Amino acid sequence: MGEEEQNSKFLSQVGLSYNFFANSLWCDTGDRMVIDYDSSQRLGLVQAEYQRAWVEIDLAALQHNTQQLRQWLQPNVQLMAVVKADAYGHGAIRVAETVLAAGASWLAVATSQEGIQLRRAGIAAPLLVLGAINAPAEIAALATWQLQPTLCTPQQALVFSETLAALRQTLPVHLNLDTGMSRLGTPWMQAVEFTQFVRQLPYLELTSVYSHLATADDPDPTFLSVQQQRFEEAIAQLRAAGLTPPLLHLANSAGTLRDRTLHYDLVRPGLAIYGLYPNPEQRHVLPLRPVLQVRARVTQVKTIAAGTGVSYGHRYVSDREQRIAIIGIGYADGVPRNLSNRLQALVRGQRLRQIGAVTMDQIMIDASPLPDLQPGEVVTLLGEDGQEAITAEDWAAMLGTISWEILCGFKPRLPRVYRAAECS
Ligand SMILES: Cc1ncc(COP(=O)(O)O)c(C=O)c1O
Repeated sequence: MGEEEQNSKFLSQVGLSYNFFANSLWCDTGDRMVIDYDSSQRLGLVQAEYQRAWVEIDLAALQHNTQQLRQWLQPNVQLMAVVKADAYGHGAIRVAETVLAAGASWLAVATSQEGIQLRRAGIAAPLLVLGAINAPAEIAALATWQLQPTLCTPQQALVFSETLAALRQTLPVHLNLDTGMSRLGTPWMQAVEFTQFVRQLPYLELTSVYSHLATADDPDPTFLSVQQQRFEEAIAQLRAAGLTPPLLHLANSAGTLRDRTLHYDLVRPGLAIYGLYPNPEQRHVLPLRPVLQVRARVTQVKTIAAGTGVSYGHRYVSDREQRIAIIGIGYADGVPRNLSNRLQALVRGQRLRQIGAVTMDQIMIDASPLPDLQPGEVVTLLGEDGQEAITAEDWAAMLGTISWEILCGFKPRLPRVYRAAECS
């Protein structure tokens, strides 16, 4: 028997023909996804049909959430979208463009690098850097890129003023008061001294005074009220001293959704922009839609005998002959290994169990309910498929963490594929 004939015989024994891979290995996702070819190419990515796994970003949902938040605010309250940490893993540039078009007028990042990335992409909106910057070289970069710093201490304000004086450049600055988060900021009781000090320094243009809430997602309002009272007290003292800044702000997503008296001149939501709620009790406030979905493809399907161990350590052993599918995503992509044997996957609108340890690049699922499952089919780990949905909150609850951490956990190795806002 010739080699070709032998191969043909083997393939027919396993129920395949030569055409199989050519025709169906990377089948069409069939979900009318619009690939953002421009940004995919810019990032050196190939289109989703050829990816083993990807993060799918629903820009229509992002647009919807921004519009919902915009409508929730009084017209005079500005919306600052928090796009730090690569927009909580969603991709800062596309997110920034979308939220600005949908009603946000400010952006916030954590670091100067994050701000520079947005400026290089041509984003001109006012941009607040929430982290504390101290090094003169970094201050010069902020001035070059017109990024607005947070000032947390008088010492830092002095370094800023001296560095900017040498450059003969003025920067808008935002003063952070610590009202109870015990993170960055000057103690709220020193609001007047701190503001006065900054006001008399050259090259600093006082633009806002702000604080950050520690417990706004806690159903118990006790400490939230303490923080708000402290902020109010600081504002009253600033007003009495004739030092009222142009803008005052306090609210993250939880504060924004919780109470309009926390809004002041501007709100700083992050999580809500991405369609998640800081606290399940806030679901009734606005109908938000999760923006991020995580999908991967079946890369192999096989049948294992009863008593077969699956994955490292054989933490799963089949109790019967079982059809399993291997999926091309693992902990190096951001699927937490601590979810081993606990994950679920949506395939063709059905919920399937993940089995065995999550490995670096692959996971296995119990495909018994779908005996005709094929390589190339799309599996949803986070997101919707038919009537079923798995959310970042579900993962967070299993892991004893928060949904913010889940969103930020997906690695750059997973390409971000954008579903266009206009197609909603
Ligand atoms: C200072 C500040 N403001 C606003 C936010 C946005 O928070 P959230 O994602 O809870 O809305 C953050 C995020 O951690 C922050 O650090």
